[in-house]
Amino acid sequence: VLIKSPAQGGVDIVEPYFNSLFVTCTASLISIILGTLSAYALSRYTFKAGPIKNNDITFFFISQRIMPPIVLSIPFFLFLGAVNLLDSLIGLIVVYIVLLMPIAVWIMVDFFNKNKLRSEELSIKWNDFYLDYSKNRINKKTILLFNELLDEIDLKDSINKYFNGDLINKTENRAVLHTALRSKVNTEIKDNGIDIHNKIKEVNNKIKEFSSSIISGSKKGYTGKKFTDIVNIGIGGSDLGPSMVVDSLKFYKNHLNTHFVSNVDGDHVNEVLKNLNPESTLFIIVSKTFTTQETLSNANTIRTWFLDSGAVAGDVTKHFIAVSTNIEKVTSFGIEENNIFPMWNWVGGRFSLWSAVGISISLSVGFDNFNKLLNGANEMDNHFKNTKFENNMPVVLACLGVWYNNFFNCESESVITYSQYLNQFATYLQQASMESNGKSVDRDGKEVNYSTGQIVWGEPGTNSQHAFFQLIHQGTKLIPTDFIGFVHSLHGN
Ligand code: F6P
Repeated sequence: VLIKSPAQGGVDIVEPYFNSLFVTCTASLISIILGTLSAYALSRYTFKAGPIKNNDITFFFISQRIMPPIVLSIPFFLFLGAVNLLDSLIGLIVVYIVLLMPIAVWIMVDFFNKNKLRSEELSIKWNDFYLDYSKNRINKKTILLFNELLDEIDLKDSINKYFNGDLINKTENRAVLHTALRSKVNTEIKDNGIDIHNKIKEVNNKIKEFSSSIISGSKKGYTGKKFTDIVNIGIGGSDLGPSMVVDSLKFYKNHLNTHFVSNVDGDHVNEVLKNLNPESTLFIIVSKTFTTQETLSNANTIRTWFLDSGAVAGDVTKHFIAVSTNIEKVTSFGIEENNIFPMWNWVGGRFSLWSAVGISISLSVGFDNFNKLLNGANEMDNHFKNTKFENNMPVVLACLGVWYNNFFNCESESVITYSQYLNQFATYLQQASMESNGKSVDRDGKEVNYSTGQIVWGEPGTNSQHAFFQLIHQGTKLIPTDFIGFVHSLHGN
């Protein structure tokens, strides 16, 4: 039997039966429930993994909950519409309004609607920084839990010990004092009974003097040429920090071109050397221990290349300087003691850019700018040391890391920097974070029963938006993501 309206000339056997509001409502309801259930089943994981933004839940409901049932209702609607368009349309609307919309609205009330002050309550303003952490999956109870955790581990005490130079690096029985490298306060910090501030000042003066002589051209190469290029030879902390900062601050760079050689593959060093003139190039061998194979191998390759170019052994001292704690090994490489910039055991490699390891930064942007960098870091140190935990940016971010790592089983976190200048930032952060937190025992050597350090990764936005955001946004993995934005571009555009 064809089901058509009489006007269409069909055999009208169903109209009397279906032509009632009750029946159209029932049919619509069944189709909507079926549609909603299947849409829910399909989208469950998407919802779990997706980010929470102010409009997201609304968007989610429209795209995942409302649209599929509507689409699934269409056949019913057409079927009924063939009988009586108006009745079926009214039926559909009635069912939506009476039954489904209140439910949807109830669920749609997200964090931000429940608490209009959420953005202000969960954000921190400090100097030029604004940290908005309100888009995280936390509520007031989570903050209380963070406080309990911080009390339990006595973070305040750990921070004091850290700044005071206690031997908190238990495996090596060392202090962790890179903060002293940028400290402006002359409180006595002693390492093995010796005040370290005087040592730091001495080395900083040496960096200043040396950088000025190279930048101004008063110090020259073995044939009398001014230096045009600087090559930093190092790996890990002796490469990543300086390389990231030199790249980040290239807006302020002078005429010197700075290069970095780290990989031992042989090609890295040769690609750098092929465009350099040995007569006007300064080499900085950066190695805390001066035993790292990659660095020594590259340093030897470069020394051979230098000597093969026509220089004699005595010229090495004019073109090679070193940053190290191992004076003996450096001198036996052929570098004069006067050309060694000391660093100390209480500076961890991954936190060493603030020491003489950062000499390539000072050469590239001048000592005054290097000093400004130290001052900025010092301000953040003071913020971390003195600010209550709820307004303390590093502490809040660390708690969020622990939260996602342990309670959402997030294996990784991404850092997306919306400035090309911070291109190398995530790579740098990988060592700072992962080399520190890659542990399966606690400070007392006991195996931990919780999850430690996350996998840190990232790239600059907007490039990453066109590469892997699809997976972060709509994939099945929950990846907490920090976005670092900026307000003014340096070129003013
Ligand atoms: O890979 C381990 C490591 O010791 C890092 O911590 C360090 O930054 C890197 O090697 C380089 O060490 P060095 O400065 O002694 O050459």
